[in-house]
Amino acid sequence: METKVLACDVDSISFPSIESDGPPTVNSAATLAALKEATHDLLDRHLPIALPTETVYGLAANALHAESVARIFSTKGRPADNPLIVHVSSLPMLRSLLPASFIMPPSYHKLIDAFWPGPLTLLFPTSSKIPPICTANHPTVAIRMPSHPIARALISLSNTPLAAPSANSSGRPSPTKASHVYADLKGKIPLILDGGACEVGVESTVVDGLSSPDIVKVLRPGGLTIEELQRVLGTETKVLVHKRDYEDSEIESAPTTPGMKYRHYSPTVPVVLLLTSSPPSTEKAESVHAVLDELHAELAPDEELKVGLLSLSDSPLTIACIATHYEIQRFSLGNRRNPAEAAQRLFDGLLTLDGEGVDVILVEGVEEVKEGLAVMNRVRKAAGEVRYVSV
Ligand code: TXA
Ligand code: MG
Repeated sequence: METKVLACDVDSISFPSIESDGPPTVNSAATLAALKEATHDLLDRHLPIALPTETVYGLAANALHAESVARIFSTKGRPADNPLIVHVSSLPMLRSLLPASFIMPPSYHKLIDAFWPGPLTLLFPTSSKIPPICTANHPTVAIRMPSHPIARALISLSNTPLAAPSANSSGRPSPTKASHVYADLKGKIPLILDGGACEVGVESTVVDGLSSPDIVKVLRPGGLTIEELQRVLGTETKVLVHKRDYEDSEIESAPTTPGMKYRHYSPTVPVVLLLTSSPPSTEKAESVHAVLDELHAELAPDEELKVGLLSLSDSPLTIACIATHYEIQRFSLGNRRNPAEAAQRLFDGLLTLDGEGVDVILVEGVEEVKEGLAVMNRVRKAAGEVRYVSV
């Protein structure tokens, strides 16, 4: 199948409030035509298409049509037991998907007021409208309202909730540019809507506030920070982060959120996470040179080792790596003081360095605050190895 890439003008679109299910205004004829073509692929041909969201590019299909949803799984090679997020464009559309008896917890009112549209996914009880394939037979459905104008306009104009995982082959880093999607999925989907680079760069924060009125569980840290969640929920609500603050054996054995059981975010070459913090007593810190010598012997003993380095712009680690005799291909994670930049650049860095043919990608660990928590969550899953280095 030929894969078209259609450029869309993000600034040409405006919306009524999220309380209204009225259509957006689209002031660019080319953008409107692209959105109509996407609607035709989705609703008449039942094919998934790729679209930009503010987090990452998504592979979208009609969430209410089981066969369309099945094509998302087959296109990505995604295991059937990993449920999808359903995307809506308005609160009336959200309500249309929920059981009539469902009463929204107060925490959800606060979160929706503050963060929708945006990079926040909430769990709801599912209803008969949503085919079980979409939720992998779970009693809950994950729903979010994306803020990216192209994504929200397509959902609104097609008047259809869209199921959309990240638009990558299962196990690969998530795409943050149309070119990333094209490199991975060309020939498998009819259309990629190109809305430029994603602003957030990591996926949405997945939140479950259903189990108790004063506890909100974060199943996957993401573009919306824990600090922001806590600020809006206030001190009377506990925000618990999976793995950091609680364990959940059910999640870990039945891999709902995220990537417990499967390989995740991995480029084609090995990724090594480098930590410059002081190591636990069971580990010791080595020099960057020693680590590179070891990787050289292991990965390319008879050739030059081409090293990809994804590191902070102001870091001693960057300087230490460049000072070795190894060929270093560098991609910046931005400034240490701005973890949102690391989030925005992480997947682009992994995919770009991979595409440049390096033998290994070294990633500098960032502090696990604000967006740094989501960054490290992805890096730890991508990395086959964690090494402590002294710089
Ligand atoms: O930002 C995002 O969330 C992007 C864009 C495209 O919207 N989408 C995305 O989808 O990251 P995906 O499929 O790559 O990740 C969805 C995550 C998975 O880890 C899945 O296990 C979890 O959400 N999830 C979905 N439904 C769930 C449910 N009912 N219960 C628990 N976790 C769920
Ligand atoms: Mg994904």
